[in-house]
Amino acid sequence: MNPSSSGTEALAPQNIALYGPPGSGKSAVGKVLARQLKRSFIDMDARIEELAGKSIPTIFAEDGEPAFRKMEADLCRQLSGESGRVISCGGGALVDPQNRAVMEASSQVIFLDCSQEVLLRRTKKADDRPLLSGDKEAQLLALLEKRREVYASFPNRVDASGDNPKRIAQAVLALLDDLGTSILRVEAPPPAYDVILGTNLLHRVDTLLSERGFNPPFVVVSDSNVAPLYAESVCKVLNAEAVVIPAGEEHKTLESIRTLYDRFLELGIERSATIVALGGGVIGDMTGFAASSFMRGVRWVNLPTSLLAMVDASIGGKVGVDLPQGKNLVGAFHQPSVVITDTATLDTLPEKEFRNGMAELFKAALIADPLLFEWLERGDGKATQRWIERALAVKIDIVNVDPFEKNVRAKLNLGHTIGHGLEAASAYGLSHGEAVAIGLVAEARMAEAIGLAKNGLADRIEVVLTQLGLPTRFQTLAIPKVRTAMSSDKKKSGGQLRFALPIEPGAAEIGQTVPENLIQETLESVKESA
Ligand SMILES: NC(=O)c1ccc[n+]([C@@H]2O[C@H](COP(=O)([O-])OP(=O)(O)OC[C@H]3O[C@@H](n4cnc5c(N)ncnc54)[C@H](O)[C@@H]3O)[C@@H](O)[C@H]2O)c1
Ligand SMILES: [Zn+2]
Repeated sequence: MNPSSSGTEALAPQNIALYGPPGSGKSAVGKVLARQLKRSFIDMDARIEELAGKSIPTIFAEDGEPAFRKMEADLCRQLSGESGRVISCGGGALVDPQNRAVMEASSQVIFLDCSQEVLLRRTKKADDRPLLSGDKEAQLLALLEKRREVYASFPNRVDASGDNPKRIAQAVLALLDDLGTSILRVEAPPPAYDVILGTNLLHRVDTLLSERGFNPPFVVVSDSNVAPLYAESVCKVLNAEAVVIPAGEEHKTLESIRTLYDRFLELGIERSATIVALGGGVIGDMTGFAASSFMRGVRWVNLPTSLLAMVDASIGGKVGVDLPQGKNLVGAFHQPSVVITDTATLDTLPEKEFRNGMAELFKAALIADPLLFEWLERGDGKATQRWIERALAVKIDIVNVDPFEKNVRAKLNLGHTIGHGLEAASAYGLSHGEAVAIGLVAEARMAEAIGLAKNGLADRIEVVLTQLGLPTRFQTLAIPKVRTAMSSDKKKSGGQLRFALPIEPGAAEIGQTVPENLIQETLESVKESA
């Protein structure tokens, strides 16, 4: 779990901003929402009054409307740096395109829609609305006319004409559920498949599958950590049995595959069945491999539950198992038919595993997403679903261009040539994410040394990884052992190591060869003297 997140949620929720004309119920509905979601509620107008120490009509009278608008703009910018708030925006706050852009980048903005009659009725009694002084009815109609186009331009709207704020809050929550789900598409190799990303998707996985034409029978494959948490509910909606493998990389073996075949046969699984992987990368890789070979190939779908599996392992159809001689030595390409990524499962993911996933998420930013890199570098942000979506998009874009790792897919190997060496030399005492984090720093130093990257990139990378709680140096390993382990990496070609190296945030180059003495020096530079 992300240590900086609040409550039990691993990902920081986005702000929810309610917007609409005076009388649309932004405050009343906002308060109900905040209570239900256990979030703090911010009424922008009330906050401005607090900050100014006077009421809005007084600000208008004494300082003028421009002073008020300036305070409103400052507050929008401030709120955009926060997360997990329910915000009631002032009626004119998002008329200004800059305020709107700032709020839309940081919040789900929901417009509360009401008829003129309802607005007139609700605002009749109010005497705290400076823009509606005097003949309230005429003033309100003029205001609505003036802002008609702007108000109409908000795409996400809820009918707020009813008088029960709880019911309107329910409608907002339903809309947020829909908006929180994104569908990305992996096009290559054909046939294309969807990656559905959202929260609380597991309990409706039956609908998501049947909508795409996948019907029973299903069988669910999971591991001994994930199954007790999620398999029962998934099996229930799919009317399926679960096959559970002991958790851990040490069980990513041909013996486990044999167990899967045996259980599939016992359950009477035929080629028409769909095999469902529910777990981290180990379960995804093994289930996909079993599906690629059982009865010469059965359809499978992936429900990744670790951050690493969500941003990396679940995409691209590489499936397989380890041999005693090394990791991932036996495998195939067998694409899933759909990937359903429920970020709510991250709430139970151990913190260490979350950090492992962050190493891969950061790698994606470094390869191809300078904005994501900036978000991570700024360090204010708590991980959000948007981070996952952007990292996922990086992997999908690469796989779409090079599904079988003939060229650019090797970019995903950034940090991994040295990372794999460290991981193996430590006899897997360093986790994959930790080893990759050190590898990313080391390979960036190498890129600087050969003039591929600008000086300073490795330091920047080191700062971000430290912020993410990942190591950037190793301690006890002997350098020759690391170097030997690097050479057994299966990505070498023609006997020479070829690195994917970073150029700058958002850009990397593949196929880089590096003089042997530089490899040695680089490894020394990331070894901490005891
Ligand atoms: N196919 C690919 O392209 C690809 C890419 C990268 C990595 N991989 C493979 O992925 C594997 C690593 O993936 P991983 O880090 O997910 O390992 P993993 O599957 O072992 O999961 C890590 C740990 O977290 C537990 N876990 C997972 N989700 C959980 C949840 N929601 N709540 C509580 N516990 C949970 C697991 O039981 C396990 O103990 C490696 O075998 C690697 O080779 C494959
Ligand atoms: Zn990796």
